[in-house]
Amino acid sequence: MCALKQPSEDFLSMKAKMRTTPYHFNLLSDTERLSAFLEAIKQKAKGTVYDIGAGCGILSILAVPYSNFIYAVEKDSRSAKLAESNFKEFNNILLINDDARNVIFEDKADLIICEMLDTALIDEEQVPVVNSILKYLKDDGEIIPQGILNGAEAIYVDRDSICYDDEFESSRINYQILSNLVIYSEFNFKNLIEEYVETEFELEICKKGTFSGIKITTFTLLTNYIICGPTPMLNPPLLIPTGKMNVNIGDIIKVKLSYKMGGGLDSIQTRVKKIS
Ligand SMILES: C[S@@+](CC[C@H](N)C(=O)[O-])C[C@H]1O[C@@H](n2cnc3c(N)ncnc32)[C@H](O)[C@@H]1O
Repeated sequence: MCALKQPSEDFLSMKAKMRTTPYHFNLLSDTERLSAFLEAIKQKAKGTVYDIGAGCGILSILAVPYSNFIYAVEKDSRSAKLAESNFKEFNNILLINDDARNVIFEDKADLIICEMLDTALIDEEQVPVVNSILKYLKDDGEIIPQGILNGAEAIYVDRDSICYDDEFESSRINYQILSNLVIYSEFNFKNLIEEYVETEFELEICKKGTFSGIKITTFTLLTNYIICGPTPMLNPPLLIPTGKMNVNIGDIIKVKLSYKMGGGLDSIQTRVKKIS
């Protein structure tokens, strides 16, 4: 769960002044996501900070009072232009409009903030990007978020294709949970991470019904103490249909799951088998 705080007056007036794309406006409006990042930044920001995937610049601006200098890197030109205009009143942020993997940084970082998160890190470039800039982090430097945990549950869902469970949208998808949550992987971004995931785990059925897929939920470890579950704009659970089979309480579903982090949802492959 996120540490939730009401936004201060200063924050609300700064947010009202920011120029954003519609997507970044939605990110900015997710108070739960932002308050968790703000808390983590207050605890960890110092010295030289990189804000990788800066979007329209909100996380850089939140880091200003705690940092000496901030490199804000954003590959999308439109977002980068908006960030540049949002940074006008700050003299310690440098905006770099490029893919973060191409940037040669002049100073090593005390803190890297990188918010290219998505469920299980499959559809965004968090892992390839963090892997490639890790060489610029000081030995005692820190990363926000510091890592993630991925969990899986057996579900019944009446769908043929992979989709997100956008519980905050009106067009919410109905599904039933049929097992307990199993944490199948954990990553710490301070270590180089293998982009290909191949994992096997077992889900024990706790509700009789029709099994037809897996729900993946990602928990973001912003720091050791701030763990953020899905929020309106951060990591909506992913529903992966696998084919239907009847299940009873106590049945075990063996799951083989593979994907490439940063490789997109098309890279997901599953095989499931029931063991009674
Ligand atoms: C989820 S948004 C976060 C934006 C902002 N940091 C925030 O918290 O509101 C991720 C951003 O990363 C940018 N991005 C994705 N891949 C990138 C890359 N390889 N290098 C630099 N920026 C990238 C996207 O264009 C997008 O603006």
